[in-house]
Amino acid sequence: MIGLINKISRSAWVLNALSLRLTLRAFILTKIELTAFEQQLLEKVSHAAQRLKVPAYAIGGVVRDKILGRPVKDIDIVCVGDGIALAHETATAFKPKPKVNFFKTYGTAQIKLPSIELEFVGARQESYERGSRNPKVSTGTLEDDQNRRDFTINAMAISLNQEDFGRLIDPFDGLQDIKDKIIRTPLTPDQTFSDDPLRMMRAIRFATQLQFHIETHCFDSIKRQSERINIISKERIADELNKIMMSGKPSIGLDLLFRSGLLAHILPQLTALAGTEYVDNKGHKDNFYHTIQVVDNIARHTDNLWLRWAALLHDIGKAPTKKFEPGHGWTFHGHEVVSGRLVPKIFNNLRLPLNDRMQYVKKLIELHHRPVSLTKENITDSAIRRLLFDAGDDIDDLMTLCEADITSKNREKVVRYLENFELVRVRLKEVEEKDKIRNWQPPVSGEEIMETFGLSPSREVGTIKTAIREAILDGIIPNEHEAARQFMLEFAATLNIKPVA
Ligand code: CTP
Repeated sequence: MIGLINKISRSAWVLNALSLRLTLRAFILTKIELTAFEQQLLEKVSHAAQRLKVPAYAIGGVVRDKILGRPVKDIDIVCVGDGIALAHETATAFKPKPKVNFFKTYGTAQIKLPSIELEFVGARQESYERGSRNPKVSTGTLEDDQNRRDFTINAMAISLNQEDFGRLIDPFDGLQDIKDKIIRTPLTPDQTFSDDPLRMMRAIRFATQLQFHIETHCFDSIKRQSERINIISKERIADELNKIMMSGKPSIGLDLLFRSGLLAHILPQLTALAGTEYVDNKGHKDNFYHTIQVVDNIARHTDNLWLRWAALLHDIGKAPTKKFEPGHGWTFHGHEVVSGRLVPKIFNNLRLPLNDRMQYVKKLIELHHRPVSLTKENITDSAIRRLLFDAGDDIDDLMTLCEADITSKNREKVVRYLENFELVRVRLKEVEEKDKIRNWQPPVSGEEIMETFGLSPSREVGTIKTAIREAILDGIIPNEHEAARQFMLEFAATLNIKPVA
C-alpha cells in the first residue's frame, strides 16, 4: 500500500492512506506531528541526499513512533547508495559540524546530536546462515531493505526526496496493523525469525510495550523456533528482557515468553515455578503467575529496573525448596535464601551487571520475608532495629517489594496485609528517628578499640566490635559513643583484656 502525504505545514504531515485490503477499503487519515527540530533535521538530510543524488528515506522505528505519538530518540535513514557518504554530507549542514561515527564493514554511520541520534545505512539485503550470528549483507533497493525488516509496523518509510518529500511507503500495510494493534512480519514469520531469532523477543517486547497482539501464525512460528534464541548473544537477550521489564505491564511479555517456550531457554529457573501440584487434595499456588503479578504490582510503584528484577526473582528458590509435608501441606522452607543464592548465577548467565546492583537484588530477595514477620503483635524495637541494620538505605524498596508480593484475590485480605505493612513502616520510622540505624556506623571505631587496649588488628578487635553492635541492636545500650565506650570497657574485661595505661 502506498499512501499519499500532503505536507500541510512545516510541522505536520497528513497521510492519506488508501487501504487495499479486500475486507476494508478504508480511508485512513493519520497525522504525523513533527517538531520543528525534527522537520529541520529531515530537511538537512533531504538536501544532503539531493546534493549526492541518492534517494533517501526515514524508516523503521521513527515512522512507527511518530504515527503512534511516541517520543523519538533516534532517526534511521536509509539511502539507495552510500550511507556513510550521506552521513558526512549531512554533517556539513550543522554548525559546529558534528562528529560522524562510521563502521565501514557494516556501511553504517551515526551522528549523535544532544537530543537525538541520526543513523545512516545504505539500503541492503541481509540474510543469516543457519547457526550463524552474523548476517550476510549485500546492497539492495528500498524494497529489499523493507523486506528484510522485522515487522510490518517497523517497515514503513517516508520519502525525503524532493519530488515526493513526506510520501509514506508502506508495502506491508503497517499503518493498518498499527490501527489494528497487530504485530506481523513482512515475509513469512519462519523466514523473518530464522534471519534473526532475536526478533522473536522483539515481537514480544513490542507486544508488551505497545499492548499489541502478535498475529497467530507469527506466534506459532515463535513457538516452533524458540530454541533458535540460543544463537543470540546474552547481552541482546537481556536488553530485550529489560525493555519488557521496564514496560507498563511486564506480565504481558513474561507470559508470552513463557507460552512461546522462549523463557525456558533464557530463564529456566522462572519456568520451573509454573504449575500447581496436588497431594492429598492440597495444592499450592502457581508461583510463576504469582511472580509476574508481583512484577506488575511493583511496576506501578517504581521505575527502578533492579527493584523490578528483585520482584521477578524473589521466589525463584521455591522450585528447589518445594516439599510436601504429610499432614501439613506444601512448604518452601528457606526459599528466600535459596532465591538470593541463585541471583549471581542468573545475572552472570544473562550478562547482567555483577556489581552493587546484583548485590542489591540479592539482598532484597534474601530479606523479603523479614517485614512479614514484623506484622505480628508485640514486635520488639530490637527486631525493627535489626531489619533497619540489614536493609540499610534499601529499607523503603524492601517494603515496596513486600507490598507488591501481596497477590491475594480476596480484597479484604489485601487491605488487611497492606495496613499491617503500613504499621511496620510507622515503627521503622519511629525507631530510625530514635536510634539512627539505617546508615549505621560503629560509634567506637576499630582504631579506638586497638588504641584503648594496645591491640594490633586481630580477632579480639572484631569480637569487641560485634559485641558493641549487638548490644546496640538489642537495645542494651543507646547508639552513642559514650555508652558504647563504657560497654566496650566492661565487655573487654570479661575477656581479660585490659586498657593500656
Ligand atoms: N530491525 C529489524 N530486526 C532487528 C532489529 C531491528 O528488522 N532485529 C529494524 C526494524 O525496522 C527497526 C529498525 O531496524 O524498526 C531499528 O531498530 P531498533 O533501533 O533496534 O528498534 P526500533 O524499532 O527503533 O525500536 P526501539 O528503539 O524501541 O528498539
